[in-house]
Amino acid sequence: MTNRYAVILAAGQGTRMKSKLYKVLHPVMGRPMVQHVLEQVKAVNLESVVTVVGFGADKVAEYIGHESELVVQEEQLGTGHAVIQAKERLRDKEGTTIVVCGDTPLIKGETYMELFAHHERTGAKATILTAKAPNPSGYGRVIRNEDNEVERIVEHKDASEQELMVDEINTGTYCFDNQALFAALEHVSNDNAQGEYYLPDVIEILRKQSDVVSGFLTPDFEETLGINDRVALAQAEGILKQRINEKHLRNGVGIIDPSHTYIHPDVVIEPDAIIHPGSVIKGNTTIKSDAEIGPFTEITNCYIGENTVIKQSVASDSHIGDRVKVGPFAHIRPESSIGDEAKIGNFVEIKKTTLENSSKVSHLSYIGDAHVGSNVNVGCGTITVNYDGKNKFLTTIEDDAFIGCNSNLIAPVTIGKGSYVAAGSTITKNVPEDSLSVARARQTNKEGYASKIKNRQKD
Ligand code: UD1
Ligand code: CA
Repeated sequence: MTNRYAVILAAGQGTRMKSKLYKVLHPVMGRPMVQHVLEQVKAVNLESVVTVVGFGADKVAEYIGHESELVVQEEQLGTGHAVIQAKERLRDKEGTTIVVCGDTPLIKGETYMELFAHHERTGAKATILTAKAPNPSGYGRVIRNEDNEVERIVEHKDASEQELMVDEINTGTYCFDNQALFAALEHVSNDNAQGEYYLPDVIEILRKQSDVVSGFLTPDFEETLGINDRVALAQAEGILKQRINEKHLRNGVGIIDPSHTYIHPDVVIEPDAIIHPGSVIKGNTTIKSDAEIGPFTEITNCYIGENTVIKQSVASDSHIGDRVKVGPFAHIRPESSIGDEAKIGNFVEIKKTTLENSSKVSHLSYIGDAHVGSNVNVGCGTITVNYDGKNKFLTTIEDDAFIGCNSNLIAPVTIGKGSYVAAGSTITKNVPEDSLSVARARQTNKEGYASKIKNRQKD
């Protein structure tokens, strides 16, 4: 038992986002804000997490339902009212509850740990995480007394001219003695500029009953950015992008232009891989050492082997082996597996296909629903004709086969080991191994015929 609990506030509509999408589900580097918050707050070793959700509840459950209990706040009457929704789940617990907003996705696990340590050290009933904002506009201000003790929080809309000058802001993150929190919430009113029940009012209530209240000032305002509109969302995206890129750079990954490289949080990259500008690397992707990605390449949920080079291409949900060359302008679609030393050249689309070691599809081809053995050469303009308008069929090309240019392989069909398919063939029947298959009209040359046509056209 850690006696530590968390409440994540995520029921606000987020009107300032001007979006159909529920605010806390807006992604920052590919992951919903609320998921970042949960991910980081878990660092403090929690007994349980309660997330307060509003009308987007089902969607939130999809992302965090397995790790957090959800309670619904039917009407969004303010942050204090939101915390009250967790009362049934938490009020009897003895211990510390951390309350965090679902719209501050950049706060790090370490900062939550420092906040907890400070709270426990001072024995306070409430500790607020504060920061000095270069432009505090919109945030609640932290009002301290002559002894520098936190007295109360005043919201921007309720603040006097003098209070607006204060640059220390409430980050919206707090540690509370759990039972003191729920007792104090009973006394919060909505007598303020927004007609809402403010959670920060709990601070003044506790102060007035002579409880110890503390402020923990974090030096990094950027980390505490609250996302209320798309301007802040874009800013958060930039900050997280930079943070992730720096981590990889320090690990020995080469990133040529970090400001134009987007690597999502779960991506694993080994040292000495090089990422060129304009690359977007998403999902559960692993990139092994000495691989070279980009420029202008999008990779989602892929394994990319050592020394593999992928240029100006798109790849998703696939395995790409070692020393493979992909692109420029290739598309590797889901469920594909590309063997070591293979080559996928320009304007080639690969879908749900296994291509074994050292095989090449170098130009202008579509290979879908296929099993291609090793050391196969697929000529320019080859198409696996895998679809009859209703069903998909499999093409098998065995080891060492050679498919001539501009061939159609009408599936289901097998090209036997070591066989040749003549250029321009439309193959409808299996080709046995060690064969040459020619499936095109035989050429006839009618000599002198061109002049005849021209003479006829003169009349
Ligand atoms: C809040 C704080 C402010 C602080 C700022 C930090 C209050 C009254 N103000 O302001 O002091 O500086 O965060 O970013 O708390 N929410 C609910 N139910 C509601 C209202 C809000 O769940 O009825 C949730 C929202 O989804 C959001 C969080 O609470 O995740 C904060 O709400 P928001 O409206 O963004 O508060 P701010 O105006 O940013
Ligand atoms: Ca906010």
